[in-house]
Amino acid sequence: MSAIKLGVNIDHVATIRQARGTAYPSILTAAAQAIAGGADQITVHLREDRRHIQDADVAALKAAIKVPLNLEMAATDEMVAKAIEYHPERVTLVPEKRRELTTEGGLDAAKKPRRLKKIIDKLHDANIEISLFIDPEEAQIQAATDLGVSAIEIHTGTYADYTEVTDQAQEQERILVAARCATSRGLFVAAGHGLTLDNITSLIQIPEIKEYNIGHSIIAEAVFVGLKKATMAMKAALTSAIM
Ligand code: PXP
Repeated sequence: MSAIKLGVNIDHVATIRQARGTAYPSILTAAAQAIAGGADQITVHLREDRRHIQDADVAALKAAIKVPLNLEMAATDEMVAKAIEYHPERVTLVPEKRRELTTEGGLDAAKKPRRLKKIIDKLHDANIEISLFIDPEEAQIQAATDLGVSAIEIHTGTYADYTEVTDQAQEQERILVAARCATSRGLFVAAGHGLTLDNITSLIQIPEIKEYNIGHSIIAEAVFVGLKKATMAMKAALTSAIM
C-alpha cells in the first residue's frame, strides 16, 4: 500500500506577511521547510481578493520547488489565465465568496456545467491536472465524472466543525461512501479543510483517500514548535548588545 500523500497549504504564512505588508515571512522558506518535513506537495489558494497568497508567490513557488504545486482557485476566466501563466501541476477548483473567512463548502459541480466544462477544457489544453473540491455527495461525484476531471478533493470542513462524536461519525460515513464511489469511477481522491492532528486520526482509516491538503492547523502548530527558539534568538541578540 502506498503512503498517504500530504499537501501542505502555506496560505497562512502569507497571511502573517500581508497583515503587516512586510517582506517576511518568506513563502519560499515556508515551502522549503514543509518539504523538508515531508510535504509531498505545496498547496496555495490564490484568492480573488489576494488576502494572502499573491501572484508573485505562485510564480516564485513554481520556479523554486521540486514537488508538485497545487493551485486552489475559483473557476473564473481571470484565474484560468493565471493558471496557464504559472502552470502548476494541479489546479483545484474551489468555490469562492469574497466575505467568507475561509472556503465554505464544496464547489457545486452540477451547476452551470457548460461554463465549468469550458474552464476545465482550457486547463486540460494547458496540460494541467484538475481536481474539484466538492462535498461528499454522489451527485457531485457524478458531475465530476461527467466533466472529465481526474481527481476530486472531498470537503472535510463539515466533519471538522462537528463537536458531537455521533455527528462526526455520520459525516465520516458520508465521506467514506463518497470516497468509495469516486474511486470506483476512477477518480483520484484527496480530502481537506479544517483537519488537525486530532480529527485526522479516524479519517485515515479510509484507504480510498490518497492525499490530504492541510494548512491552518500545521501553520498554527508551527508557531508553538518554533516560538521558544525564535524568542531565544531575539534574547540572544539583546544580550549581545549590552555586553
Ligand atoms: N483544501 C482546500 C480545497 C482548501 O480550500 C483549503 C483551505 O484553503 C484547504 C484544503 C486547507 O484547509 P485548512 O487550512 O483548514 O487546513
